[in-house]
Amino acid sequence: MKIVAVGCDHAGSDLKKELIQLLEAAGLSVLDCGTNSESSVDYPDYGAKVASAVSRREVDRGILICGTGIGMSIVANKFKSVRAALCHDLFTAKASREHNDSNVLVLGGRILSSEMAKEIVTLWLNTSYSGGRHDRRLKKILDIEESLEGKPKKSTD
Ligand code: RB5
Repeated sequence: MKIVAVGCDHAGSDLKKELIQLLEAAGLSVLDCGTNSESSVDYPDYGAKVASAVSRREVDRGILICGTGIGMSIVANKFKSVRAALCHDLFTAKASREHNDSNVLVLGGRILSSEMAKEIVTLWLNTSYSGGRHDRRLKKILDIEESLEGKPKKSTD
């Protein structure tokens, strides 16, 4: 893995700075997609930047932070081939790599201490996908994405 895109809204800008230091210290290239202040912004704008870079394979992985992580997760999982995992603990971070081959990690900046967030990021980066039976399940997700491509996004048909 070489390039990690990182993005946040105003609820994650402090944590993002710390995570960028951690990533660079680990020898990774970072694409900083903002925001870079505590001024209020809209999380979809930053979630879309990171998720589209992952979806287009311009970067290897993505990390997103908002207050709860929920909004960023909703946005990121709209993008083809993005498997974004909202993780508040080490167990889910590890499982999201082993079982789901997650390519975007989402964190809640108002939930996690920076120490816990750094532990989660380190574990997530260093855990491999297990393959095997999980391949079949990921293939089914891909099939769903492909079956929905080009369909109108109406809730009532
Ligand atoms: C911003 O106040 C907050 O709504 C956002 O950071 C995030 O938690 C949304 O899911």
